[in-house]
Amino acid sequence: MGHLDGRVVLITGAGRGIGREEALHFAAEGAKVVVNDPGVAIDGSGGDSGVAAAVVEEIVARGGQAVASTDSVADWDGARRMVDTALQVFGDLHVVVNNATIERNRALADLTEEEFDDVVAVKLKGTFAVTRWAARYWRERFEAGVRVDRAVVNTSSGSGLLNPLPTQASYAAGNAGVAALTIVGALELGRYGVRVNCLSPSMARTRLTLDVPGMREEPSADGFDPLHPSTSAPVAAYLASAACPLTGQVLSVRGGSVAVNHGWSRGGHVRKDGRWTVGELAEKLPAVPMDDPFGKLADALGGALGPDGRARIQEMIDALLDQEGRR
Ligand SMILES: NC(=O)c1ccc[n+]([C@@H]2O[C@H](COP(=O)([O-])OP(=O)(O)OC[C@H]3O[C@@H](n4cnc5c(N)ncnc54)[C@H](O)[C@@H]3O)[C@@H](O)[C@H]2O)c1
Repeated sequence: MGHLDGRVVLITGAGRGIGREEALHFAAEGAKVVVNDPGVAIDGSGGDSGVAAAVVEEIVARGGQAVASTDSVADWDGARRMVDTALQVFGDLHVVVNNATIERNRALADLTEEEFDDVVAVKLKGTFAVTRWAARYWRERFEAGVRVDRAVVNTSSGSGLLNPLPTQASYAAGNAGVAALTIVGALELGRYGVRVNCLSPSMARTRLTLDVPGMREEPSADGFDPLHPSTSAPVAAYLASAACPLTGQVLSVRGGSVAVNHGWSRGGHVRKDGRWTVGELAEKLPAVPMDDPFGKLADALGGALGPDGRARIQEMIDALLDQEGRR
């Protein structure tokens, strides 16, 4: 008995990295999987239909059931076709895992309109598009009297939630948007039996992270490999399982750690009975403890912000921006 026996699951970006591991894990847990991936390069260029097909072959060779889809999540009709593929081939759709991404990192002052739009189109609009077509189908089934657990598992990133990284304005904005979509989706779709949650993987060894220091180190042959791209697959499978009660949650996964994120939260405040003037705000507001983006980045890099910490982080930001080159 698998935890996903009989569940039909559509996973976007399932040809490589984290999505591929999710597809293999879901199939091993008994799910029928639509493996969506157009097989593009990191920046979204090109395409290779063999990428999704190879994962389908792997699943079938292990005795599982899967079908390939090579549409782009950024294509509105393509998103509809993915959902239709699940219905036509497997007769239903229980779970959507929105995992696809591209990256086009560049200093904000140099980022082009096209680069920004392309990343947001895959990461944020793509998550919306696939969820929207699935939600249409789920609402229709609910209104026809069918009562069955449905689930969306979105994918965000620490870059956008906890530690926005310099040069990732588009990617971070898209990922923050995915977390917002998760909460709105959970509140709206709950009435049709749909739970909506989100994963935020971290430090998983894929083509996106190979240049992060330490990522290329070979794991020891026997023990647990905390950098392996499969670490979030069981968390995604749990969120996808019919017995899971969670909805509206964003979970950070890093190696063996699974943390519940609490998102933006109100901090200290100033208050008066009336409208503030600029002068009053200038006098009072700086006394309220402020949020610290430098501290967040230091946290993400695994170190506390010591006495020379801010200068160190600024040096790192400068190096990153210089590396991207000015245009
Ligand atoms: N690797 C990490 O440590 C890490 C950290 C934080 C968040 N994430 C998130 O995890 C998810 C997977 O990332 P990954 O590291 O496995 O990346 P990856 O590049 O290995 O895999 C992403 C896959 O998405 C596919 N894709 C790209 N554009 C698509 C489109 N328009 N439609 C459908 N598929 C498309 C690509 O072809 C690729 O196979 C992403 O959402 C990413 O933001 C990863």
